[in-house]
Amino acid sequence: MLEEEYQKRRVLPRHLRKPPPPPAEFSFTIRDAAPRDLPDIREIYNYYVINSVVTFDEDAMTLREWRAKFAYLGKLGMPFLVAVSPSDQVLGYALVSPWKQKRAYRYTVENSIYIRPAATGKGLGNALLADLIDRSKQAGLKEILAVIADKGAEGSLRLHEKFGFTEIGRMGRVGYKFDRWLGTVMLQKSLK
Ligand SMILES: CC(C)(COP(=O)(O)OP(=O)(O)OC[C@H]1O[C@@H](n2cnc3c(N)ncnc32)[C@H](O)[C@@H]1OP(=O)(O)O)[C@@H](O)C(=O)NCCC(=O)NCCS
Repeated sequence: MLEEEYQKRRVLPRHLRKPPPPPAEFSFTIRDAAPRDLPDIREIYNYYVINSVVTFDEDAMTLREWRAKFAYLGKLGMPFLVAVSPSDQVLGYALVSPWKQKRAYRYTVENSIYIRPAATGKGLGNALLADLIDRSKQAGLKEILAVIADKGAEGSLRLHEKFGFTEIGRMGRVGYKFDRWLGTVMLQKSLK
């Protein structure tokens, strides 16, 4: 080999290289939502408003609307939870809100649970719904309803059934979004 052809080995052979660090473990904690979380919550919800039929809202919600909702639920003592990453980024949220305004409905709520798209399928929905049910019981609520689109929301249906929600009825052709008719499946869970 001529001297000018000689090149120093720059890369160590595979067996001598340091193994790459293991992938960072996915971790999260659940806590009460705070006003500072509302921009993230709005972003998560609006993603599904704009891109899916899992919600029948068609217009993106404003921060002002989320602030009003947060204050209203807080006044009623209803649980509103977030799952956050170790750096406190909101990965998903779950809340309950009154089913109807008439007084006799006061022990009955509807739930709402949304996970940031990149964080779905990692156990957040499970953890949030479990805590939401516990916290709803502690708040003295007795019945939770889940109203789920009859198309495109299979994950949500399975999740609720896993937690003992049972189907109590269906409505066909009650929503019209993205140029098609949609129905709803209603599920109920008693908190006894
Ligand atoms: C539905 C949703 C809340 C579930 O949360 P998630 O963090 O993705 O779910 P998890 O990883 O905790 O899984 C919990 C259970 O949900 C069900 N599930 C979740 N994704 C599913 C999918 N793609 N298909 C079928 N079942 C699914 C399963 O029963 C799963 O339990 P298992 O892991 O024991 O099988 C979440 O995917 C989401 O935000 N989806 C879009 C918004 C939405 O539909 N919200 C509900 C409106 S009613």
